[in-house]
Amino acid sequence: MAIDLSTTIAGVRFPSCFMNAAGALCVTEEELRGLGLSRAGAIVTKSMTIEPRFGNPEPRYYAFPGGSINSMGLPNLGYAAYAKLIPTLKEFGKPVIASVAGLCEPDFVKIATVVNERRPDLIEVNLSCPNIPGKPQIGYDAEDSERVLDQVRGVITVPMGVKLPPYFDPAHHEKMARVIERVGVEFLSLINSVGNGLVVDPERESVAIKPKGGFGGLGGAMIKPVALANVRAFWKLFQGRIPIIGVGGIVNGTDAFEHLLCGASAVQIGTVLVEEGTRAFERLEQELSAVLSRKGYTSPAACRGKLKEL
Ligand code: SIN
Repeated sequence: MAIDLSTTIAGVRFPSCFMNAAGALCVTEEELRGLGLSRAGAIVTKSMTIEPRFGNPEPRYYAFPGGSINSMGLPNLGYAAYAKLIPTLKEFGKPVIASVAGLCEPDFVKIATVVNERRPDLIEVNLSCPNIPGKPQIGYDAEDSERVLDQVRGVITVPMGVKLPPYFDPAHHEKMARVIERVGVEFLSLINSVGNGLVVDPERESVAIKPKGGFGGLGGAMIKPVALANVRAFWKLFQGRIPIIGVGGIVNGTDAFEHLLCGASAVQIGTVLVEEGTRAFERLEQELSAVLSRKGYTSPAACRGKLKEL
């Protein structure tokens, strides 16, 4: 059976439903070009700030069998560099998603205004970086989130999405869903890393990473159930009206299939991309195609949201 892994989000067609998560192999021009040359269905930039940033002190990423912990601290080239690169990146013939962060509210608006002029295909507003010391994740405050998203929406003309942190209570899903509806967010990226976890190395009797006393965002296989729960919760709240990019715990094709069943239209990969490099895209495509074929589905859309409840 021929499987078509393309997907559409906010009116934009993606040749494959797999892409990088903002942060994974997408900081430098070389890495972004690498994504362009790979089988990734899109190029997602590192979340950009006003000034270039070196990020937090190293070691700031640590992988272990269950996943990874990171506290990168938004190392990036600064928005002016990414804005300049966007037209070049678009020449790879796949959507470019500009991930916009900020250290204060006006930053988001300034970055979004300038980046929008370079016509990325979509803008993903990152309200969920857990790794900037002294800066809480905006996505945990509904009022702050609404103010930021409303202002960004007002200055951009390309579809706007938001990357949210994981929520752990239906009341929080519902509150944020109301914000998303009011502002007119056009796609969701769910979820960012599970913030402020702690990984301990018992041999060294030490934390695994240096920043923030060892606290950092968890990613990889261990966070899949949390990611799936957030995808499913928002899918149900919007009854599938707002496209979702599932992020979290996608290590193989079956993981991607589970995200699709929960309601995702596409998926982003982080830990597995860092660990395996861009050849992960081809492997994941093959694995997902095999699962879809075995199940009698011809595309990601065919199984989207079809999770059965007991
Ligand atoms: C980081 O740069 O610290 C990770 C980015 C994020 O979690 O949004």
